[in-house]
Amino acid sequence: MLLLLGRRVPLSFVHRLTTCCPSSLSRPVLVSSVLIKLRAITRITHSTVFVSAAGQNTGTMPERRPFVRLPTDVYPVNYGLCLKPDLIDFTFEGKLEALVEVTQATNQIVMNCADIDIITASFAPQGGEEINATGFNYQNEDEKVTLSFPSALQKGSGTLKIDFVGELNDKMKGFYRSKYTASAGEIRYAAVTQFEATDARRAFPCWDEPAIKATFDIALIVPKDRVALSNMNVIDRKPYPDDENLVEVKFATTPIMSTYLVAFVIGEYDYVESQSSDGVTVRVYTPVGKAEQGKFALEVATKTLPFYKDYFNVPYPLPKIDLIAIADFAAGAMENWGLVTYRETALLIDPKNSCSSSRQWVALVVGHELAHQWFGNLVTMEWWTHLWLNEGFASWIEYLCVDHCFPEYDIWTQFVSADYTRALDLDALDSSHPIEVNVGHPSEVDEIFDAISYSKGASVIRMLHNYIGDEDFRKGMNAYLLKFQHKNASTEDLWDCLEQASGKPIAAVMGSWTKQMGFPIIVVDQEQQGDDRILKISQKKFCASGPHNGEYCPSWMVPISICTSEDPKCTKLKVLLDRPETTITLSGVNPDQWVKINPGTVGFYRIQYSSSMLESLLPGVRDLSLQPVDRLGLQNDLFSLSRAGMISTVEVLKLMEAFVNEPNYTVWSDLSCNLGVLSSLLSHTDFHEEIQEFIRDLFTPIGLELGWDSKPGEGHLDALLRGLVLGKLGKAGHKPTLEEARRRFRDHVDGKQVLPADLRSPVYLTVLKHGDSATLDTMLKLHKQADMQEEKNRIERVLGAISAPDLIQKVLNFALSEEVRPQDTVSVIGGVAGSSKQGRKAAWKFVKDNWEELYNRYQGGFLISRLIKLTVDGFAIDKMAAEVKSFFESHPAPAAERTVQQCCENILLNAAWLKRDADDIHQYLLQRKAPPV
Ligand code: BES
Ligand code: ZN
Repeated sequence: MLLLLGRRVPLSFVHRLTTCCPSSLSRPVLVSSVLIKLRAITRITHSTVFVSAAGQNTGTMPERRPFVRLPTDVYPVNYGLCLKPDLIDFTFEGKLEALVEVTQATNQIVMNCADIDIITASFAPQGGEEINATGFNYQNEDEKVTLSFPSALQKGSGTLKIDFVGELNDKMKGFYRSKYTASAGEIRYAAVTQFEATDARRAFPCWDEPAIKATFDIALIVPKDRVALSNMNVIDRKPYPDDENLVEVKFATTPIMSTYLVAFVIGEYDYVESQSSDGVTVRVYTPVGKAEQGKFALEVATKTLPFYKDYFNVPYPLPKIDLIAIADFAAGAMENWGLVTYRETALLIDPKNSCSSSRQWVALVVGHELAHQWFGNLVTMEWWTHLWLNEGFASWIEYLCVDHCFPEYDIWTQFVSADYTRALDLDALDSSHPIEVNVGHPSEVDEIFDAISYSKGASVIRMLHNYIGDEDFRKGMNAYLLKFQHKNASTEDLWDCLEQASGKPIAAVMGSWTKQMGFPIIVVDQEQQGDDRILKISQKKFCASGPHNGEYCPSWMVPISICTSEDPKCTKLKVLLDRPETTITLSGVNPDQWVKINPGTVGFYRIQYSSSMLESLLPGVRDLSLQPVDRLGLQNDLFSLSRAGMISTVEVLKLMEAFVNEPNYTVWSDLSCNLGVLSSLLSHTDFHEEIQEFIRDLFTPIGLELGWDSKPGEGHLDALLRGLVLGKLGKAGHKPTLEEARRRFRDHVDGKQVLPADLRSPVYLTVLKHGDSATLDTMLKLHKQADMQEEKNRIERVLGAISAPDLIQKVLNFALSEEVRPQDTVSVIGGVAGSSKQGRKAAWKFVKDNWEELYNRYQGGFLISRLIKLTVDGFAIDKMAAEVKSFFESHPAPAAERTVQQCCENILLNAAWLKRDADDIHQYLLQRKAPPV
């Protein structure tokens, strides 16, 4: 999961004020080509003027006007929408017939509209005469259009008709084109949509705010040999009178819904179908000839729908749900009501060629998007400020769902490594932001699709669920969904329902986590008094740069739980820490028992134990008496404390060595990830090889135990662990692993022995890391031959491991070539930056040199934030922070401004860490190899 915020927004006061006379522009095609040119001009003006992160005007730029939501004097009740895409010319024609309610007499209608051109517009009051609009004033910067009428529209119902044209763009937003290769090798295009957060306005003029819900009657005019899908089931399909090659497909009326959830797809697809136990028709649409690859997702979806129905105690309200793989797709997946769109790699599984981690990813993504069908679609956030409700909740419950479908994945432990620790890392920065954040302009909305909304959101919901207990949590959720179904809700509304259900002070507790940024570090000390253990517990804000003494210190309402070595699985005591410090007495704890705070690693905080407490816990790592998730949590806390300068990194290295007997995949995975961070930091020193040696020594025993071939009876987690360990050993230059990887790679390429899917990433990584130009060429050939996007992505992500500078450049150029899907360019460049010191430099230069193309490709959306983070986060020299800052001052990316700040902060933190600990680390790495004296 790749995710990523005050306030800074593109500001152009060069508004295109177009007043056109409807009757003079009656030929859509002509209009569209003229207007597409006009739009190109407007786009340039779009990215020219900005305010700084501090909200100040940077230099020559004018003040920006405040963002304003749409007026409420006219609102939609039903959209009758007919679209006719042209898959050859990449344009579309549209007709909107919206039933609207005028609440106050007005002679203007203000709607959202971007990159589309209105040809005619009229309004007819119910039973009255049609009035033509006399002017369309586009406020491009605000993505709005004002329709002016010669007389006032009176209070009451009426029909608004608009004819318009637009472009099927190649920017993966709005109504766009997605490229695919037909069976004869011919390049063709599908027309697809991605409207969240604010891009429905690029497909049709609309009230594009989540709280302005209406019903939709959608019709599509498409070539008769194409599949046409939308949110609802098809109710009519008939020849189109003007063209025998076309058909008109009509869909059933949707429930009342937000515009960002509307979707349509026109293309060539196969599908597999099933019926869920609660009677919903589920289809998974795949590229032609690949229906088999939809079976896994189909199974997950048909199990998941009844699971959610039961969990929420609310049925899925539509008769069907389609899940469809889209070739060119910016996000991972999108929860459009009844028509969920996915990247191919988030939906398709080939029994032979997909690896275990892909299956797990597909299960999580399906679980996530289907949860939105209730949480987001049925009940929708009132405004984007509450986006976290959607995304945090879905990012939590996807794990509950996968745990239900695949208990063998031990997915909750993986949650801690994937989401919880990631959120802690980001939220420890001074440039983090609260979960609930005021947003207005679209670029601000784009910016909050980040690890705070997703991973911190999911983590605090997990903490809340644990605090309330499953029964009351479900009761409260059910009440919330029933009360707000087909409506909108805010964070407070959810708290109210949960408070009612549990009788606990939910709003007060949760407000401290969602309204203020950051989280506490819990400082614990102990004393033994007879049979009692006295714990002194205090909280202060945890900062990635270490304690900020003397500053105002916020505090949180912290649910604290405690266990002891007597029963490490069982919570002995729960308290709510609602003040800066407190003392707790644990009775019946003898002196040789250890005491652990936060069993299960559920509370969203870090812990600093006194040295006596920490010392007593460490044997629990070696003898595995601590639970896996607690071993993981302890290691991760200490790693984070070392980065903040609160303990020496040498202490963490010593702790890591205590993990040699570790059997658990996720514990290894988290440790491996932190070692990767350290290895990247030490790539700035001349003792990088010593940390490689440390890695090799740590991973060799588990590598030997696992071997290369899977053994009978092994499961999902064994496969993941083997891939992780072999990849780590191979990358760190472990000779036997390198030799075996080369041998197996040759056999694979020669067709003698195909590599099992789970071994491909580690083998590809190993041979590339230690490979030459022939290795790279072979890998590029495998890429070209690969039929599955999963295999292409697998190769793309490791290409950056190549070492020679000219080959690094070749990989970077490849990233922008036609061979790589537009959304995947980010991971190729990121792979280069994350692999080596040379790679990082080269990738940064490449991003700067190709900035315009990259920015334009992603239209400054969230993929640009990901690209920036992957490229520059690993630098560890102060002056690079200044360079990055200065580059983005002259090359603004509004939706990535907070990411840029966070990266600069991370670079400075890395630099300080290196200065502080490099010598000690070096000494430690040398002396651990020295013979004892
Ligand atoms: N609603 C989002 C899709 C989205 C993301 C729209 C960013 C606009 C901007 C969807 O529910 C989602 O969260 N997708 C995730 C995958 C999920 C499994 C975490 C994504 O796209 O990364
Ligand atoms: Zn989501």
